[in-house]
Amino acid sequence: MNKEFPKNFLWGAATSAYQVEGAALQDGKGLSQQDVINRERHELYGFADASIASDHYHKYKEDIALFKEMGFTSYRFSIAWSRIFPNGDDQVNEAGIQFYRDLIKELKDNGIEPIPTLYHYDLPWALVEKYGGWLSREVVKDFEIFAKYVVNEFKDDVKYWITLNEQSIIVQYWTQKCYILPEFQDNNQLRYQINHHMNLAQAVAVKLVHEVGGLAGPALGYAPVYARTCKPEDQLAAINANDLRNTYYLDVYFKGYYNVAALNYLQENDLAPVMEAGDEAFFAENISDFFAINYYDSSCAQACPKDAERRWSGYNLSGKKGDMSGFETHPGFYQMCPNPELETTDWDWAIDPTGLEFVYRDLYTRYKIPFMITENGLGAYDELTPDGKVHDEYRIKYLKEHIAATKRAMDRGVEVIGYMPWSALDLLSTSNGYRKRYGLIYVDRTDEDPKDCARIRKDSFYWYQQVIASRGTDLAVDNFLSVSEKE
Ligand code: BG6
Repeated sequence: MNKEFPKNFLWGAATSAYQVEGAALQDGKGLSQQDVINRERHELYGFADASIASDHYHKYKEDIALFKEMGFTSYRFSIAWSRIFPNGDDQVNEAGIQFYRDLIKELKDNGIEPIPTLYHYDLPWALVEKYGGWLSREVVKDFEIFAKYVVNEFKDDVKYWITLNEQSIIVQYWTQKCYILPEFQDNNQLRYQINHHMNLAQAVAVKLVHEVGGLAGPALGYAPVYARTCKPEDQLAAINANDLRNTYYLDVYFKGYYNVAALNYLQENDLAPVMEAGDEAFFAENISDFFAINYYDSSCAQACPKDAERRWSGYNLSGKKGDMSGFETHPGFYQMCPNPELETTDWDWAIDPTGLEFVYRDLYTRYKIPFMITENGLGAYDELTPDGKVHDEYRIKYLKEHIAATKRAMDRGVEVIGYMPWSALDLLSTSNGYRKRYGLIYVDRTDEDPKDCARIRKDSFYWYQQVIASRGTDLAVDNFLSVSEKE
């Protein structure tokens, strides 16, 4: 057994376009639904919007130099559809595609493998106006035009393509991740209809990537589900939850059909997507090559009475522990609940490195697919000290435990290609603006004031540099603990 991670292991980190780039309307870019959603969230909650974000559009060279300094050999980013096709149709914006040519060239010149995501929540706004965005099956055709153009443009530079980001999270938080007109928001069947259209788009992407000889993988927000107790009813509830929240997606990607129990539940409850003949055959013809996992936390379920009220996933907007607005409840199927065994972040996300090992082992047994970690990280309030430092030992500890869990799974024979935590630099959180940060690099701005978005190396930056340089053998944290922690 090797102590080191393999030589060709991809070490890096991840971001997404609207969360870092800014320049929301510059050089011909069209609005995306995230520009609109985040403008509304800014008005409602005071979080930053996406217009400047982390100003990566202007600072990408400086950022890539910092990635190189950390030792990255890969970088996961996403391509903003509305930068290339401002109206979501087939009219290319030359300046938009040029930005990604420049970005990819800069990465390659610095020995960093570009790993683009084709879709990370930011549908062109024009398509929302035209036909309601993902609500309409028409979107699949438009996605194909975009994806074909991008895949062909970069086929010689890119080996690994991430198709769509986090369909399961989109279903859970659909009005945050997609712009849904108010008149449709009470129709919960549409959550699964949107997802069906995304499954078609994802299969289209796999097909296009395969045509040019690349490898394709969907990025799923994956939280394993434990049973609240060892009561048989709770164990069964955990299987139900896992089927509807996780396997429902994975079976389409890796087997080509919907998970039977989950689909059956949706049909009984008038929530199932409307499909056309041939849809599942199309999935089966376009199976993904690897699984890009976004792992943050695990979850917990218990049995749920038949007469309970259906509820959808809640959230914690305040960043105060225990401020969750509710837990997903499917009467007679399962009910999500907190796990009393685990510590949580300030936003109530359970911290569970062993859960990652559990995911690798469970899914490798069930699907025998290679994994790439495309997100993993700790959202926290970071403090910039007066002498310009960020002592984020909590993040270092979190990442350390998850890297160790990855190595343990690999030692048991699981194939893992790379590790790209969230996030390379601070960015606009999908739920909490710049109050909740994930980066290895601090971006000096607040929700209220974009300042100059100066880059500052956090302690986790230096720690991760040490990890990469030692090929994952030196995870020691001692040099990075604050004085009070050491005592
Ligand atoms: C994942 C997304 O769901 O989690 C990212 O792919 C997101 O886009 C990340 O930023 C963390 O979520 P949040 O809401 O804390 O930003």
